[in-house]
Amino acid sequence: MPSTLIKNGTVVTAERTFAADILIDGEKIRDIAPALPAENAGRVIDAAGMLLLPGGIDVHTHLDMPFGGTTSSDDFETGTRAAAFGGTTTLIDFAIQAKGTKMRDALDTWWKKADGRASIDYGLHMIVTDLGEAGLEDMDSLVAEGVASFKLFMAYPGVLMVDDATIFQALSRTAKNGALICMHAENGGVIDVIVRRALAAGKTAPIHHALTRPVTAEAEAVHRAIAMAEIAGVPVYIVHLSSEDALNQVREARDRGVPAFAETCPQYLLLNIDEMNKPGFESAKYVFTPPLREKHHPPKLWEGLKHDHLQVVSTDHCPFCFADQKSLGKDDFTKIPNGGPGIENRLQLIHHHGVNLGRISLNRFVELVATTPAKLFGLYPRKGTLAAGSDADIVVWDPNAEHTITAKTHHMRVDYSMFEGFTVKGNAKQVISRGEVLVDNGQWHGRPGRGQFLKRAARGGAWN
Ligand code: URP
Ligand code: ZN
Ligand code: ZN
Repeated sequence: MPSTLIKNGTVVTAERTFAADILIDGEKIRDIAPALPAENAGRVIDAAGMLLLPGGIDVHTHLDMPFGGTTSSDDFETGTRAAAFGGTTTLIDFAIQAKGTKMRDALDTWWKKADGRASIDYGLHMIVTDLGEAGLEDMDSLVAEGVASFKLFMAYPGVLMVDDATIFQALSRTAKNGALICMHAENGGVIDVIVRRALAAGKTAPIHHALTRPVTAEAEAVHRAIAMAEIAGVPVYIVHLSSEDALNQVREARDRGVPAFAETCPQYLLLNIDEMNKPGFESAKYVFTPPLREKHHPPKLWEGLKHDHLQVVSTDHCPFCFADQKSLGKDDFTKIPNGGPGIENRLQLIHHHGVNLGRISLNRFVELVATTPAKLFGLYPRKGTLAAGSDADIVVWDPNAEHTITAKTHHMRVDYSMFEGFTVKGNAKQVISRGEVLVDNGQWHGRPGRGQFLKRAARGGAWN
């Protein structure tokens, strides 16, 4: 691959902002310095007025995932392409161990889903549904294959939920293998009883998905997950944290020096339970878990991001089409497939509502969407920063580009947007993955199958 020189841009990392050129040699960044000579470069990109960001890393996506009686509508081809359009050059998706089978089988299944389709690099977490006899050894083997994180569910009884003994055993094992346990923290047993009561009372509309999952059920589970990790003496990572109450649990633990980490997602920062009061079945578009919360929660989550009580913004991208998938639950909210789309809009939304509106700095933005995800999940410094020797995953970001988010023009394979009509200032102009320009001024130059599986290192940033 010929060398590329990106000239006249402003480099933004988690630590600093400075004027410099970036020289790319093949798949790697070779040099970052002012006034690099252009003579020998095969290609020159003029980035005057642009910010140069490390490619975004989305550590929570569900592509081609069987769930709720259907399959998420983006596969690895459409999902990674949409991610790239939004400036995300790496994602970590979830393989799911089917109960009674080996985790290794699930890894093969998910490799087949991604193979020949992914256009950006990807890693996999493993969802553990069954530790069985050999599960703990299986975890070690998976870590050796680069699957350095596992997700366990405290919700969805009968489907994905595991008991506390399983969670504690898995957590304890990470002291040996250095993996990071990701927890879906909601009290599934309590929620199940509340759901059954709601259905018995004839409450079947989408809003009851939200009303049957109280914040206390989330806060309790976050507390329990962190307590179990503390007893095991290992770090823990809470996924898709949605409420002030849950956040307080993470903050309290971190204040005591416990290595507890948490992510939130754009939907919890920018939407609230009002979306569930839309007429007819429209609110099904916002049925995901945990649900949208009352209005006072999002500002607390923004504060949490600013003060490092929350460390990561991911999307939990899990799209289902409104017309023929969400409609499975027309008469019963428990049959609405849980999940919403967002893989394409994360950087746009967090840059606009975070940086432009003065809630977080530009450097903190980079830290939340790229650097800390890379560190916690064993990809740093190959990914997540701009430095000589790192992969040339670079976003040429136009901080003044205005863009209106709409399903009419987005690249996700789903028939609605959770952020329909949101106007943002700041968008990806060029998106480069390992030295290849995938997106250039709205044009797609990527190729399905070029994305590589990332073997991630154990004992990443959560263990420091
Ligand atoms: O509703 C959601 N979040 N669907 C995806 C699965 C999960 O729990 O992350
Ligand atoms: Zn979850
Ligand atoms: Zn998820």
